[in-house]
Amino acid sequence: MVHHEGMDLGLKDRVYVVTGGGRGLGLAAARELVAEGARTVITSRNEKDAAAAAAGLGGNAVGVGADNADPETPERLIAAAREHFGRFDGLLISVGGPPAGLIGDISDEQWRSAFDSVFLGAVRLARAAVQELSEGGVVGLVLSSSVHEPITNLAISNGLRPGLAGFAKSLATEVGPRGIRVLGLSPGRIDTDRVRELDAMSGDPEAARASSTAGIPLGRYGAPEEFGRAAAFFLSPAASYLTGVVIPVDGGMRRGF
Ligand SMILES: NC(=O)c1ccc[n+]([C@@H]2O[C@H](COP(=O)([O-])OP(=O)(O)OC[C@H]3O[C@@H](n4cnc5c(N)ncnc54)[C@H](OP(=O)(O)O)[C@@H]3O)[C@@H](O)[C@H]2O)c1
Repeated sequence: MVHHEGMDLGLKDRVYVVTGGGRGLGLAAARELVAEGARTVITSRNEKDAAAAAAGLGGNAVGVGADNADPETPERLIAAAREHFGRFDGLLISVGGPPAGLIGDISDEQWRSAFDSVFLGAVRLARAAVQELSEGGVVGLVLSSSVHEPITNLAISNGLRPGLAGFAKSLATEVGPRGIRVLGLSPGRIDTDRVRELDAMSGDPEAARASSTAGIPLGRYGAPEEFGRAAAFFLSPAASYLTGVVIPVDGGMRRGF
């Protein structure tokens, strides 16, 4: 049992891998983890971007170029954590969102490609991580509000994310007896490049943003650091009794309990 003085998250010297950490939600999570004393391996497909993002976090982050769709990625990343920082305590899986579109617009090839990076990539990473983690280890999946309710024009997300929530729940049940936690985070509208691109697709980004904002009780999009702080908490030892849940980080957007 760890005794905390006040609200110490217990992150000091712990080592996390954050995929899709070059920008957006992954980077925001890595930034908060590092601010709380953890060390991180962050990735994006583009090695230079990952390295630049890591440099922005100081000496307690390294950047690795790795595609979540590549079957060799999980082993490489866990090895990188051990090589650079000597241990491996947890994983946060973020990845580029799938292409937008209605069901009638999306080709088999788009479904397959999104399945490889968003779904199978997450399954492989999580599976490899739980094999290597010990008691107190944690796997987090960045999912979407589409877990709870379909989002207009994001048919692939609506198809794949609920399945990943089921996968996360199933894995949490399997590895709970070993003291390993698995949870999902479901962002609503957090102000990242991805969300700006989606808003721009409508042709009138400001109107799209206003319309989404109208459905958010807090009356605004979230800032990436607000998502990052939530992620750092849920991945930290301070959240030691939370597993098998998908937590909305959405300013109240989800209307169900
Ligand atoms: N922002 C939100 O409010 C929101 C809401 C619902 C769901 N989400 C989901 O949350 C995830 C992160 O969103 P975001 O807003 O942070 O997106 P983002 O701003 O587009 O950032 C995505 C990051 O992932 C990297 N990446 C993309 N494809 C990858 C791959 N195959 N393997 C490894 N890294 C990859 C990107 O770098 P490279 O392109 O260089 O690889 C980038 O660093 C997405 O899946 C998105 O659909 C976000």
